[in-house]
Amino acid sequence: MILVLQKKRMSLILQKKFGVMNTFTKIKIVVICSFATIANNNGYAQIRKADFDNSWKFKLDSVNNYSEQNINDNNWRSLNLPHDWSIEGKFSKDNPATPSGGALPGGIGWYRKTFAVPVSEKGKSFYIRFGGVYKNSEVWINGKLLGMRPNGYITFQYDLTPYLKYGNERNVIAVKADNSKQPNSRWYSGSGIFRNVWLISVNKLHVDRWGTFITTPQVSENAATVNVVTQIKNEFSSSKNVVLKTIIYNADGKEISSKTSDATIPSEKNNEIKQSFDISNPNLWSLDRPYLYKAISQVISNEKVVDTYDTKFGIRTFYFDADKGFFLNGKSVKILGVCDHHDLGALGSAINTRAIERQLQLLKTMGVNGIRTSHNPPAPELLDLADKIGFVVMDEAFDMWKKAKTEYDYHLDWDKWHKKDLEDQVLRDRNHPSVFIWSVGNEIPEQWGEKGDTSGRVIARELVGIVKSLDTTREIVTANNEPYKGNNIIESGAFDLIGYNYHQNEWAGFHNIWPGKKMIVTESTSALETRGYYELGPFDSIRRWPERWDKPFKNPNGTYSVSAYDNVSTPWGSTHEESVKALLKSDHVSGMYIWTGFDYLGEPTPYSWPARSSYFGIIDLAGFPKDVYYMYQSVFTNKPVLHIYPHWNWNKGDTVDVIAYYNNADEVELFLNNKSLGIRKKSGDDLHVKWTVPFEPGTLKAISRKNGKTVLTDEVKTAGVASKIILKADRNKINADGKDLSFITATIVDKNGVVAPRADNEIHFKINGAGFIAGVDNGSETSHESFKGNKHAALNGLALAILQSNGKKGSITLTATSEGLQPATVVIETK
Ligand code: GAL
Repeated sequence: MILVLQKKRMSLILQKKFGVMNTFTKIKIVVICSFATIANNNGYAQIRKADFDNSWKFKLDSVNNYSEQNINDNNWRSLNLPHDWSIEGKFSKDNPATPSGGALPGGIGWYRKTFAVPVSEKGKSFYIRFGGVYKNSEVWINGKLLGMRPNGYITFQYDLTPYLKYGNERNVIAVKADNSKQPNSRWYSGSGIFRNVWLISVNKLHVDRWGTFITTPQVSENAATVNVVTQIKNEFSSSKNVVLKTIIYNADGKEISSKTSDATIPSEKNNEIKQSFDISNPNLWSLDRPYLYKAISQVISNEKVVDTYDTKFGIRTFYFDADKGFFLNGKSVKILGVCDHHDLGALGSAINTRAIERQLQLLKTMGVNGIRTSHNPPAPELLDLADKIGFVVMDEAFDMWKKAKTEYDYHLDWDKWHKKDLEDQVLRDRNHPSVFIWSVGNEIPEQWGEKGDTSGRVIARELVGIVKSLDTTREIVTANNEPYKGNNIIESGAFDLIGYNYHQNEWAGFHNIWPGKKMIVTESTSALETRGYYELGPFDSIRRWPERWDKPFKNPNGTYSVSAYDNVSTPWGSTHEESVKALLKSDHVSGMYIWTGFDYLGEPTPYSWPARSSYFGIIDLAGFPKDVYYMYQSVFTNKPVLHIYPHWNWNKGDTVDVIAYYNNADEVELFLNNKSLGIRKKSGDDLHVKWTVPFEPGTLKAISRKNGKTVLTDEVKTAGVASKIILKADRNKINADGKDLSFITATIVDKNGVVAPRADNEIHFKINGAGFIAGVDNGSETSHESFKGNKHAALNGLALAILQSNGKKGSITLTATSEGLQPATVVIETK
């Protein structure tokens, strides 16, 4: 605890220490702060990784070069990272990203940050680390090129030490992000320094970058062996004797074991030290109780701690069985996973830890226990959260290898970069207990061997070799859309676990094609829905749209919405219910990752422009669940569920199929204006019950019962004219840290508080106090309104405003107004 408090304080000091310096006064203040820090700093609580997100300058410019140190950037826009400039732009079908890439602008962006380093810091090593820059980034310090990195999703760092200036002299980091050549992605990528940046300052003798690897080769209920391999780097010009002390803490912060080892590290070398610990009665990391231990590595030189490095880890066992599927800690677990892209809706690709957390919490509450980071390395914060909340993560590397999917995509960089990128991903992520599977590719064109081309086999073996050279504790897969005999990737023999994308009718017969192999559904479903939009007509008539992936569907009734009845899917996919049934049928199917958890920008299947975002999500782009969310919740959680839909605003003469999802009950009875419409029980493997009801305005009420006793009720009512707005925050208190968010849902209701299910009123948001509006949305796939304004139309009764702390303590007041509606206000405390 003391350590934690101390670290928080030190982190603040360090943030100040390396803060932006535009004026001489500030330089002075910083130097003073820094002296205080050093005086207090005896090493143990030394902060090595400081947030470097604040006070950057930004300019969009495809022509000029701003890499030199002495460029006047005073008039550039000031901003804090992470930042995605595309999300601020205007939708147009003519943007080079195309609607498939989200129809937002790309271009070239420049970022600059000025900072000073106190003289007292001389002698340390300094690194800058980028969580990810989209894309083709180049980074300079004081005009010297540090390097370039094409891959927009990879974490990378550069050594600043040789170029740093100290004292009153300024340092300038310049970053160029080039997303001008498009299309380079099949989905919305975003542009810029869209992940966090850190400044790492360490003694020249330190634990190297991603320098620990923790494995748990033996685990039982009574004991676990924890192996820690630590890489220590010596950047001094002479060899150094060190003591490595590794201390293991449990989740309560109690020290439970420690070891010391001596080593001599030659100059400019990196040595590996192996230590092993016996932990009795280990707390196992599981999906329900994701228990995290922490290893603290202290590098000690001349009896002084010169570096301290933390690694969180979990103790768990798992395996995939060819016949029985996935086992975690000896227990069979069906993986109900979702695939998700990295964008965060209205926030674009600029990552925000709270926004990721909200997504993961919504998924966990739905019953999801797996995440596939399709189709690229995720933000590191996502994995930290997955460790904490409990998911089976499939950590994916590539959407293509050497053969292109779009003109300017990663195939251009494959030869030069794939090895380094894959290695860095594995090195960064291999201590995360939530990572169980490495995926080295999604729907890779090399699976087909046209004209005898077997390059797919060679590359597959190479990639598996790269992963295994760094981690042999996890399964490796590729996601195959043609998982048949002759698939070059599977036939390479490099994989034990075979990944199927779709083909749900063939999951049961998997072993007829691949006897003895283990199976996972790397991707399933691709069903289509617009939240809150329903087309009447028989629920049971399934529609497969579009005819082919590359032929957008033209809806004859002119709409660009898709009915949310779970009866529309792509022809390669299935409805949600169809794929869940197939998953539950066969024990050997370890699990499936549904396409997708959330709607994402780009890939507006089954349509094209004016649609610009996907219909695949179980949850819409704004984070509002579609009805089918409750089907999953009823099957995959113990939480009592009863959910009926659609809404109850129809016309006289309409015949409406009413669907209920429920669990923990024997039956559901439906009433219209207190008249029973009959009792229904799920039959066979069905996951819903249904009534066909001639519409009559009023109240439709469902009651679920077990042994004759009411379990739950749910109702929908015919709404009158929209008359007011209701605001509800997901959190009424947020941290005053400049990053935390409150997600505010605006619901349009009639005078009795019944949701107006088709309301699309434009809502104006006005904000006061310690925050700003970070984004607005309504979950529509076709809206061309800005995500960054202070107004947005509602979609089917709902809109969203995302409030962000501006770093000050106090409160934020949000008022929502709309012509003809009674306004609403909500107050959020920032502390
Ligand atoms: C899959 C592909 C995904 C996405 C999806 C849409 O084939 O792997 O990236 O495009 O189709 O249905």
